[in-house]
Amino acid sequence: MAADLRAAYASKQDAEAQLRHAELWSVRVLVRAVRVRCRRLAEHLRRTGHYAAELSRALGLDGEEIERIGAGACLHDIGLLETPDYTAAGMSDLYRACQTLREHPERGHAIVRGSDLELFHCVEQVAIGHHERWDGSGFPRGLSRTEIPFAARVVAVADAYDALREPGRLPAPLSHAGATSRLLEGGDGIEPGWFDPEVLGAFARIGARLDRMTDLMGDGRL
Ligand SMILES: [Fe+2]
Ligand SMILES: [Fe+2]
Repeated sequence: MAADLRAAYASKQDAEAQLRHAELWSVRVLVRAVRVRCRRLAEHLRRTGHYAAELSRALGLDGEEIERIGAGACLHDIGLLETPDYTAAGMSDLYRACQTLREHPERGHAIVRGSDLELFHCVEQVAIGHHERWDGSGFPRGLSRTEIPFAARVVAVADAYDALREPGRLPAPLSHAGATSRLLEGGDGIEPGWFDPEVLGAFARIGARLDRMTDLMGDGRL
């Protein structure tokens, strides 16, 4: 009897591991598909995924939560695929031109919604919530503070960091110190009040690790 229970438990664990693998694989395939249309967007998604996972780790989340938030970050801007001029714009240009791009969270949500898988539920929350701001000044719903799903609050910081550091930023990508000062003290149209203070605190603590990741990704080593 005990052996039967152990076998059933092991089989359930195997099935759960396979499901997790399939979920993460489907995210990876989607990012590859994005790359076909726009390499620059795919690179932004990939880097933001790494930053968001690292921030999640620093926030003390468990392995599955880290995977979910990383996956959400990897698809957060998938709605930009429907923005005709996207491929001609830099990420920083996009942030300045946000008024014309305000629909991309809803468009992205429409692409990824509908799954009852936990991982894709998180992907949905991030797609629609990553431009919401802690102070309520974001879009599309103008949510504030803890009305915004936690995963979206984490990705918002990772996303902003990458927008400041991405190689194609005009007039030039910022250094880690430059990006950190914009996020923590404001500047270049960014306000620290947009971000969850807990996530911003984690960012301040592990900034050096994110900087190292930027170097590794730039060299293709991550
Ligand atoms: Fe976005
Ligand atoms: Fe983004």
